[in-house]
Amino acid sequence: MLFETERPSTLKQIVGRDKEIKQIQDMIARPDGIPHILLSGKAGTGKTTAAIAIANEILGDNKKSNFFEFNASSTRGIDFIRNEIGGEIAKRRPLGGAPYKIILLDEADNITADAQMCLRRIMELNGRTTKFILTANYPFKLVTPLLSRCVQIQFDAIDTKTIANHLKRIAIKHKMVFTDQQLIQFAKMANGDMRLAINNLEGNVSSSSSEFIDKLTIASINSMERDEKINIAFSADPDYIFGKLWEIVQKEKAWDKLVPLADCNHKMNNAVHKTLFLANLLESHF
Ligand SMILES: Nc1ncnc2c1ncn2[C@@H]1O[C@H](COP(=O)(O)OP(=O)(O)O)[C@@H](O)[C@H]1O
Ligand SMILES: [Mg+2]
Repeated sequence: MLFETERPSTLKQIVGRDKEIKQIQDMIARPDGIPHILLSGKAGTGKTTAAIAIANEILGDNKKSNFFEFNASSTRGIDFIRNEIGGEIAKRRPLGGAPYKIILLDEADNITADAQMCLRRIMELNGRTTKFILTANYPFKLVTPLLSRCVQIQFDAIDTKTIANHLKRIAIKHKMVFTDQQLIQFAKMANGDMRLAINNLEGNVSSSSSEFIDKLTIASINSMERDEKINIAFSADPDYIFGKLWEIVQKEKAWDKLVPLADCNHKMNNAVHKTLFLANLLESHF
């Protein structure tokens, strides 16, 4: 899925979270290391992404042997917390010169209350060599003694404009053709949830491109940014797109486009990469 391949791996790549990322970077810079952190808030806003990025940043090449990731929706009971986490992992030394280990308990609001109390003890006993990062959509499900051990950072809904801009970057990178209006619509529909927005984008790719090409006019192409114009060339079969452009030129009697079109047609017929000439036509003659 696109939202997975487009997951930022560094804190810097995470969008719309400037204040929170700054707060995290300040914590990373502390001489005694990060505190236990709780990333709370709405789904699809970058909590898991930020947790992994923190580990990447602190552990670098040592991440493999010092980062442990669990999703608490499947490992929620006291036995797991007491035995696996407390009895095993938390006790190990950091390896390879890493300053400490990091344990990510994703969706920690699914951990049972008695297991949360147990977790708090483990945090206290091993806090110097083991730092916990918890994520939770519903932080009020966490018991107070556990909450009070963590520095909580709230991830609210990401604003529509930030989401739309991010979608635009992804669309350009993957040569998807959408108008800015469409991207804003996907962003609005997602209500601050970036994962949902990216899914909206991905789900609309196949249906959109021919519909999109059918709606093009000379004026609409003219009004596009350079990147968008070039993207048209990549949005479907080049001969199909060329045919459509020829139709538009005839329909709108845009005879000033005849020579560039004829020239492009000639080059495309002899070309291995027809898209290249089509992109050039769109970019320099529309
Ligand atoms: N702030 C963000 N910046 C860039 N991409 C994001 C951001 N938040 C979420 N995403 C995208 O959405 C996907 C899901 O984000 P994730 O961190 O798993 O959300 P959460 O854990 O808050 O539910 C990520 O893989 C990434 O593609
Ligand atoms: Mg998550």
